[in-house]
Amino acid sequence: MHTGTLRNVWYVGALTSQVPVSGLKSVLILNEPVLLFRDSHGKTSALRDICPHRGIPFSYGRVVKDQVECPYHGWKFDGGGVCREIPSLCSGQDLDCTKIKVKTYPVIERQGLIWVFMGEKGFDPARIPEPPLMNSLPLDVKPRLHEIATFECHVDHAVIGLMDPAHGPYIHKSWLWRSEKSMIEKTKRFGPVDHGFRMLQHKPSANSKAYKILGGEITTEITFRLPGVRIEHIRVGKRNFYSFTGLTPVNDKQTVIHQVMYWDIPWLGVIKPFLKWFMHYFLYQDIDAVNKQQEGLKFDPSLMLIRDADTQAKWYYALKDEWENHLKENREFRNPVKETELRWRS
Ligand code: FES
Ligand SMILES: [Fe+2]
Repeated sequence: MHTGTLRNVWYVGALTSQVPVSGLKSVLILNEPVLLFRDSHGKTSALRDICPHRGIPFSYGRVVKDQVECPYHGWKFDGGGVCREIPSLCSGQDLDCTKIKVKTYPVIERQGLIWVFMGEKGFDPARIPEPPLMNSLPLDVKPRLHEIATFECHVDHAVIGLMDPAHGPYIHKSWLWRSEKSMIEKTKRFGPVDHGFRMLQHKPSANSKAYKILGGEITTEITFRLPGVRIEHIRVGKRNFYSFTGLTPVNDKQTVIHQVMYWDIPWLGVIKPFLKWFMHYFLYQDIDAVNKQQEGLKFDPSLMLIRDADTQAKWYYALKDEWENHLKENREFRNPVKETELRWRS
């Protein structure tokens, strides 16, 4: 079972709104400091956030004329990681600064998300699929709501917690929507999708009150994709509501969650403050559970995955294994998930 963190995949580095024009933002992904910077034309680049001269993080510097200026001695680097200027050089000192380079990371930015490719040296990102999209919404759609938080746990526990259907009535208890008293037996159909699986389109369960605020004819489908993306797509008639969750490993012990909501349902703007509160409340219930879980995990206990409530977690591990194997063996990805029905009470 693969219990490490995946490489050669796209991770959410930040939201578009976190990197202003001519601005910088430093993030840690897989224990590597990554600098996101946006030039005056709006193009985003990602560089290793360490100056090759003396190692100070660029993120203490600034963007000058579409280049990153190191705060220490003012060396300037473009978005391709090439050094363009060393201010201390005198005339006649013929050091070719363009020979000095900083590691760069491929970036894809759309739908308000900045994705960073964390590849091994020489690995071509074209070998793997691009990050997922909210299919019914345009590429330039802006998130309506977002929340960013850190889970003090390995990405696997964050992913498993995210897809775990059985913790709802215990962790997400609330007078507003549910308690363990309202548990009912559920049957959901699942099928494979690109590097993941999907709880196929269905009407929400009778005891899932949260959906009721949307009114009308509602269906939902929930897709999980490696390395740690969950997209719930709720259709309300012809309109759409998306809840996107991207998990990014900071290191082996911390995971950043980007939770983003999108919709094209005009009247939802009215209850936006309520949705924001709801999203925050829900997320911090999960964070609280994960933090308490760490107290037990410190002792490295052996753990269990039961069927069917934990089958999705088993799929996740199987997908990770296949991910590594297909890259190692240089072959097509063979999705280990088969279409099936899972049953649990929640
Ligand atoms: S440390 Fe960056 S320019 Fe000197
Ligand atoms: Fe949860």
